[in-house]
Amino acid sequence: MGRGLIYFDNAATAWPKPERVYQFMDQFYRTHGVNPGRSGYDLSLEAGSLLFELRQRLTRFFGGDEDTPERLVFTYNVTDALNLIIPGLLGSGDHVITTNLEHNSVIRPVNHLVRDQGAQATFVPFDSAGFVEPDEIKRAIRPNTKAVIVNHGSNVIGTVQPLREIGRLCREHDLTFVVDVAQTAGVIPIHMQAMNIDVLAFTGHKALMGSMGIGGLCIRKHVAVRQIRSGGTGVRSVHPYHLEEYPWRLEFGTPNMVGVAALWAGQDWLDENGVANIYGHEMKLASKLVEGLRQIDGVRLYCCNRLENHLSTILMNVQGADPGDVGIMLDVDHSIAVRTGLHCAPLVHAQLGTAETHGGVRFSVGAFNTEEEVVTAIKAVAQISVWAQERGSRPEPGLAPHTAIT
Ligand SMILES: Cc1ncc(COP(=O)(O)O)c(C=O)c1O
Repeated sequence: MGRGLIYFDNAATAWPKPERVYQFMDQFYRTHGVNPGRSGYDLSLEAGSLLFELRQRLTRFFGGDEDTPERLVFTYNVTDALNLIIPGLLGSGDHVITTNLEHNSVIRPVNHLVRDQGAQATFVPFDSAGFVEPDEIKRAIRPNTKAVIVNHGSNVIGTVQPLREIGRLCREHDLTFVVDVAQTAGVIPIHMQAMNIDVLAFTGHKALMGSMGIGGLCIRKHVAVRQIRSGGTGVRSVHPYHLEEYPWRLEFGTPNMVGVAALWAGQDWLDENGVANIYGHEMKLASKLVEGLRQIDGVRLYCCNRLENHLSTILMNVQGADPGDVGIMLDVDHSIAVRTGLHCAPLVHAQLGTAETHGGVRFSVGAFNTEEEVVTAIKAVAQISVWAQERGSRPEPGLAPHTAIT
């Protein structure tokens, strides 16, 4: 790993990527770096084939409708995908139910819809273990409720939500079920049809092992989405308006073909290693980490008493130390990279009561972490905790100059 860094920030982005991903990105861009679907020569058609085959492959991977692979559309990332689908499904007078576990990529588009278009939204809380009770969602349903949006795996506390139960509820009440799988795709199996998921939003650069700059939506064939952007499609150029057919309906301009190549190679790597094995490896290390952190006086752990239905993302704080300072000490003194602050999910911290104390320290274990790295991390936190206890008191209110609010 570069400069001897121990990387526990895989929830931000999985890193490093498998070697085959780097190699295929490089090779594909050198040999097929032409604009796909814009021209009729062989190389352009070959590049277009990879794009089409990736739609098929990812639709199968997510258990979507395999007879409509064109409804797997590519975006810049999951934030972009959610910004297309939220106003594409909802408008003035509609009510949406979502959760306190959401990332700002859901919270902000929903809040804009409420403020700017007169929609209504309910954010349901999670329970003390970090799970959203389907009954909470049921209680929030109104006559004008149109959709339910749920973050499958929390990027802050790592809990994995009961999609089957929530999906069943959505089907019974005819609500469109949208799921953000940014944290789970590539580690937890997802089957849209079996789970009654109508729209799935994913990002390429986390456990799918693709690159930054690509994400997408997988949209079941019965779902109607308003098209809100327009531009070039490479086909039917004479048409004065954006095409209504998929994939063009939700794709605009030249696609990120290096990202397509990365996602393709990421799928190869996942096939070779097996999603269950990768998850097993990460959870073995996460259990060891939790076990070790639990023994340290002054360490507070959140929502990880049991690691069932959980990702390898662990949130903690050290009593008497600002989380930002803990992150800096881990980095500067121990070469350990973690993410501190609010993790772009302020409602999680508001509900945990950690928002006013600058959030928490998040360790997110990835496929390439080792047991040795976990042992080093536990020792580092133990040292920091001793330092904090010796120093004695909580930090003054207000931000330390280097504390990042994220
Ligand atoms: C649950 C969740 N949703 C959305 C995002 C945003 O991802 P991106 O920056 O790739 O759009 C993240 C990133 O951390 C996330 O964890």
